[in-house]
Amino acid sequence: MSTATLDKVEAESKASPYIKVTFRIRRFNPEVSAEATWQDFEVDIDPKERVLDGLHKIKWDMDGTLTFRRSCAHGICGSDAMRINGRNRLACKTLIKDINPAKPITIEPIKGLTVLKDLVVDMEPFFQAYRDVMPFLITKGNEPTRERLQSAEDRERFDDTTKCILCAACTSSCPVFWNDGQYFGPAAIVNAHRFIFDSRDEAGEQRLEILNDKDGVWRCRTTFNCTDACPRGIEVTKAIQEVKRALITRRF
Ligand code: SF4
Ligand code: FES
Repeated sequence: MSTATLDKVEAESKASPYIKVTFRIRRFNPEVSAEATWQDFEVDIDPKERVLDGLHKIKWDMDGTLTFRRSCAHGICGSDAMRINGRNRLACKTLIKDINPAKPITIEPIKGLTVLKDLVVDMEPFFQAYRDVMPFLITKGNEPTRERLQSAEDRERFDDTTKCILCAACTSSCPVFWNDGQYFGPAAIVNAHRFIFDSRDEAGEQRLEILNDKDGVWRCRTTFNCTDACPRGIEVTKAIQEVKRALITRRF
């Protein structure tokens, strides 16, 4: 390698990858004010880093009062769903370079659930709807003496809906849920689907009746917001449609 090329490589390796990005965050502290406000933070960040890394820099180096949920930081626990530039995403799976860092990045709590502080919402109504659909295997009769067998085809029927991480990105992107928090919401239906279509389960009818309620699947207006929002790529709207069809045909 020539000296000029070596100098160029050295200069490039010394060049900082960091750029200045404005994080525009919706702040809310009920102990200070009943109104939420926007606050800007200038953050030095590598565009290959994630929004969650930027939030950590703010919390650890600039303002320790900034409040948000996160745990695994790798798209598994589902705790850091938030509205980033107006769209529900996981902060730990959103790269700065993918969301136009030349403009301020807006960060807000997910919609339709009560904001407790900054980006933290009250998840209880979301988890209540999840519990209501009985998200666990229900069988009758005696305990089996061997493993419950299932064909590959039968397993395939609900494979997509097993991927849910309960992040609430789907439910909190649904206009029906925004207008009326009584609606079960896409995530609860996805988790009902996971058991309704499981050949080993024996409570499909019960779950279908629960979702036949006035606040159940028929509230869905097929806007596909939920499918767009899902960080796991689950075909949420399709799952809801399959549950509706099962209610009509009683075949599942
Ligand atoms: S279906 Fe997708 S968006 Fe909805 S809670 Fe599950 S993982 Fe999150
Ligand atoms: S922190 Fe766990 S999914 Fe993002």
